[in-house]
Amino acid sequence: MLNFVVNQQLCTACGQCVADCPAMIIAMKNGYPDIAPDKETTCYKCQHCLAICPVGAVSILGLKPTGSRPLAGGFPKPDALETLLKGRRSIRRYRDENLEPALLQRLLEVAWHAPTGMNTRQVRFTVVDDKEKMASLREEVMSGLTGLVRDNGLTGSMQFYADFIKMWDNNRFDVIFRGAPHLLIASAPKSVASPLPDCLIALSYFELFAQANGVGTVWNGLAKVAINDLLPETRARLGIPADHIIGYVMSFGKPAVCFARTAQHGPAIIHRAP
Ligand SMILES: Cc1cc2nc3c(=O)[nH]c(=O)nc-3n(C[C@H](O)[C@H](O)[C@H](O)COP(=O)(O)O)c2cc1C
Repeated sequence: MLNFVVNQQLCTACGQCVADCPAMIIAMKNGYPDIAPDKETTCYKCQHCLAICPVGAVSILGLKPTGSRPLAGGFPKPDALETLLKGRRSIRRYRDENLEPALLQRLLEVAWHAPTGMNTRQVRFTVVDDKEKMASLREEVMSGLTGLVRDNGLTGSMQFYADFIKMWDNNRFDVIFRGAPHLLIASAPKSVASPLPDCLIALSYFELFAQANGVGTVWNGLAKVAINDLLPETRARLGIPADHIIGYVMSFGKPAVCFARTAQHGPAIIHRAP
């Protein structure tokens, strides 16, 4: 039941909701937009009808337009966004502090607005939200990898993890998590249309909004391989559902480093299609 309601006092019959519906299921009926009952199942639940209505006349899924954030003039100026995109850096030195829970919640809620294939919205954020829990996970991963090294359980291409264990054993240098106080794992059911892109886009949203809020991040391929491929018991212990793929893993926390300028990456590789 979509609960598609048009406030006829406000609606100007401009037809924007009809024209923008990606499922093409909204039609004018008696002068107002309408969704026929037999079309309801094909709705993407994208809320474009609610979002596009200039006068806030459309409700759907029990959501009122007044609950949305108004957009007029609210996007960041392109120069500011360019500075964020070019100035975002991988952070590998962190303060030994938890993020404020409200800020962490906000980062996750905003990242949750990332697009997903067919609007399936099944990305699951598994978050290590406390530095003590992160310390335990670090110990668990290092100890699991130590066991693999001892039992010759690392295949040829994974041998480099043995060097990381040596660094950890010798001077507690943590190449894998870089001492970050938090970890974010984005996973999605294998069965959805595009689980991997969905996770990667959500993490990109998270990273950019995090860095705009002064929170450091790094895409963590080493942790992803360790948790997903080498230590299945850790993956299970973290509560990643068996029918999910892990899209990627991201370390984050308050940075102990401040970058002064952008990196300079030469011209983009651009191929103009014939
Ligand atoms: C998919 C992916 C995986 C990565 N894995 C790691 C990692 O395991 N450890 C790490 O320190 N950096 C990792 N990085 C960070 C890259 O090394 C980094 O993005 C690159 O050196 C450019 O630096 P910048 O992010 O500061 O621009 C990863 C980046 C990406 C996109």
